[in-house]
Amino acid sequence: MEDKDLKRLVVLISGEGSNLQAILDNIAAGKLSANVVGVISDCADAGGLKKARDAGVPTAVVAENKYADKSQFNIALQQQVEKYQPGLVVLAGFMKILSVDFIQCFAPWIINIHPSLLPKFKGLNTHRRALAAGEQYHGASVHFVTTELDGGEIIEQAKIKINASDDEATLRARVLAEEHKIYWRAIQRIINHHREFKL
Ligand code: GRF
Repeated sequence: MEDKDLKRLVVLISGEGSNLQAILDNIAAGKLSANVVGVISDCADAGGLKKARDAGVPTAVVAENKYADKSQFNIALQQQVEKYQPGLVVLAGFMKILSVDFIQCFAPWIINIHPSLLPKFKGLNTHRRALAAGEQYHGASVHFVTTELDGGEIIEQAKIKINASDDEATLRARVLAEEHKIYWRAIQRIINHHREFKL
């Protein structure tokens, strides 16, 4: 495995970017020794773009509707990520499924945060599904990205008890607060101990 500078983080977002903000805050606080060298969104009005700019981080938008087809979009996305010369590609609420080519280009150094206790509840609407299934516990997982959706090795998990009073919105908020605690820690673990993982 070639030695990459894993401290060079390129973060992919689609929305509010609260996980991005938590990563930036922990870098600023000196707890996470890494740099966000670029933030890319597939959505021009993603709130996270402003968070990145406010932190002085270069940003780019690669919107699928600007390309003739999905494969052109995937190529453009890959090229934009490569421009930032990432060590680690960090998916933080990025709502597009990445192509096999993209994943193979950056693997194994692509990670994602997923709002469930994987392997439970892969895919979308995890909070609603956890409630509907009558789960006692729920949470979030940081995992390596492979071509199997939400299927790569788990790096960190946060587990919370579902309260009788929880609805989808309260559960989402409680899990999101846990996400903010585990994502930067997972990144620091990879930077420090990447040889421990079965990659
Ligand atoms: C998070 O719940 C993350 O787990 C999911 O999308 C949400 C992104 O939130 N993949 P934010 O954009 O980081 O605020």
